[in-house]
Amino acid sequence: MNDKRLRHLLGIEELDRDTAERILELAGTFHEVVRRPVRKVPTLRGKTIINLFFEASTRTRSSFELAGKRLSADVMNVGGSSSSTSKGETLRDTIRTLDAMHADVVVIRHSVSGAPHYISSRTRASIINAGDGMHEHPTQALLDAFTMLRHKRRIEGLTVAICGDIAHSRVARSNALLLGMLGAHVRLAGPRTLLPHRADAWGADVFDRLEPALADADVVMMLRIQQERLGACLLPSLREYSQQFGLNKRRLALARSDALVMHPGPLNRGVEIAEDVADGEQSVILEQVESGVAVRMAVLYLCANEPERPIEG
Ligand code: CP
Repeated sequence: MNDKRLRHLLGIEELDRDTAERILELAGTFHEVVRRPVRKVPTLRGKTIINLFFEASTRTRSSFELAGKRLSADVMNVGGSSSSTSKGETLRDTIRTLDAMHADVVVIRHSVSGAPHYISSRTRASIINAGDGMHEHPTQALLDAFTMLRHKRRIEGLTVAICGDIAHSRVARSNALLLGMLGAHVRLAGPRTLLPHRADAWGADVFDRLEPALADADVVMMLRIQQERLGACLLPSLREYSQQFGLNKRRLALARSDALVMHPGPLNRGVEIAEDVADGEQSVILEQVESGVAVRMAVLYLCANEPERPIEG
């Protein structure tokens, strides 16, 4: 299988539909690989991947590490607090240092929107955005779409309700852009203070109540309140938020009976999602985690692989 190299994955905004569909197709191949007894292929042998995380992460960081290892690359993790940025080194010098080590791919998570774009013009490595501030989280959107495809066999025509703290969510933005590009009807729902000023520019229908957004939805995606990015007084209290915007069984019944319940994690159980819904029959939250490894393998493959090197093994 030969593929054109992907120079960077900075956001869904920069991705065209063909490339997005190619990533999802390749992820299907890698999903099969990660379910084998021997979950490894030699495709990226000799390549170096550096995970540079300046913000906390469980799912994204560990799945990028695992994805690189499953492809036989050398994978190195550099944490923000343990890097020399804590001694005053600039991001520019950090990326130049990693470049001198001949990194093929740098996966970066940073609290500043645009940080991956900034370093992408200062390195020979391919840059993958693993979440930048309130801007984008492209691999999360791709793994969410992949999970939907596995269950629904299509994205075109699905109604997807994305609910919660939309304003501070890079997951919401990337999902709205990707799902819209693939032909889904996207609804965004949250309290007015947690909706972005120009949410309609994302090509989605916007609701300030949960119930109408859930009506007959094929997919319900709940988002965490981003406490670390909230300004003062955007919410009266978490208890009140939960009462009005929390997904419980009664509200889920407004969606289609076969609706998927999704959440990018980490979950605040009892706030945006009730315990019995998070762990209920319609929940695919742990499948999203599994999809993350396959999708990140596909993205790493397209960024690091020489076009003539096929997937072997
Ligand atoms: N969904 C997500 O980005 O999770 P982590 O913050 O654990 O990586």
